[in-house]
Amino acid sequence: MSTIRKKLIAGNWKMNKTAADGAALAQEILAQVGRETAVDVVLCPPFTALESVGRALEGQAVKLGAQNMNPQKSGAYTGEISAEMLRTLYVSHVILGHSERRTYFGDTDAFVNQKVLAALANQLKPILCVGETLAEREGGRTLEVVRTQTQAALAGVTAEQITTVIIAYEPVWAIGTGKVASTAQAQEVHAYTRSLLHDLYGAALAQKVRLLYGGSMKPSNAPELLAQPDIDGGLIGGAALEAKSFVELVKAALVAG
Ligand code: PGA
Repeated sequence: MSTIRKKLIAGNWKMNKTAADGAALAQEILAQVGRETAVDVVLCPPFTALESVGRALEGQAVKLGAQNMNPQKSGAYTGEISAEMLRTLYVSHVILGHSERRTYFGDTDAFVNQKVLAALANQLKPILCVGETLAEREGGRTLEVVRTQTQAALAGVTAEQITTVIIAYEPVWAIGTGKVASTAQAQEVHAYTRSLLHDLYGAALAQKVRLLYGGSMKPSNAPELLAQPDIDGGLIGGAALEAKSFVELVKAALVAG
């Protein structure tokens, strides 16, 4: 049950919500869990809604996250957003290496690693996403894929930095499909990921890193997932787009402690 790790529920809004709609959703969420401190809550709207949502979150316990970032400081990178730009909007977290970015926009393990290092250098907490495709799972390669992605993304991350990294295990076949990984499947990969962290950083630090599950998490399946010993929260897509379901997920994390 309860561990040294505070549960974390993050909403990944993906390419949904205008600045105004995002602020309205944030207000609805805040009305119910705005002062909640026993669970960390992070809202990750698209870039264009960061400012309005950030304003709504002012003075509240809920944190602001971005969905991507370019590792360069500044310069000729048309269409990109830097860590500093995010920091000035009071962003504290950033999703990196999401499977949609890897699949549709060519993010490689090496590029994800650059982003992780740049985020950490700028005091942004990375929510690093890893996970296998259906073909990889069926080919018995799940743990190998998770190992490769995790080790590559964390190259150069120091012992001092690792506890601010959050890792989200998101099986690609479970994202937006309604197919959730079974609790046993999820817990197996989470325990494996923690063992990788143990090998890289030692037992004490490995116990401090939060591992989220993502992929069709919703109020009906969350309690069981969140009760697993190595599942410390959720990265929520579809169910984060409505206050009711998102708040229920925060409450499920509170119960799971
Ligand atoms: P989903 O998305 O909850 O809609 O499956 C999760 C994610 O992609 O982060």
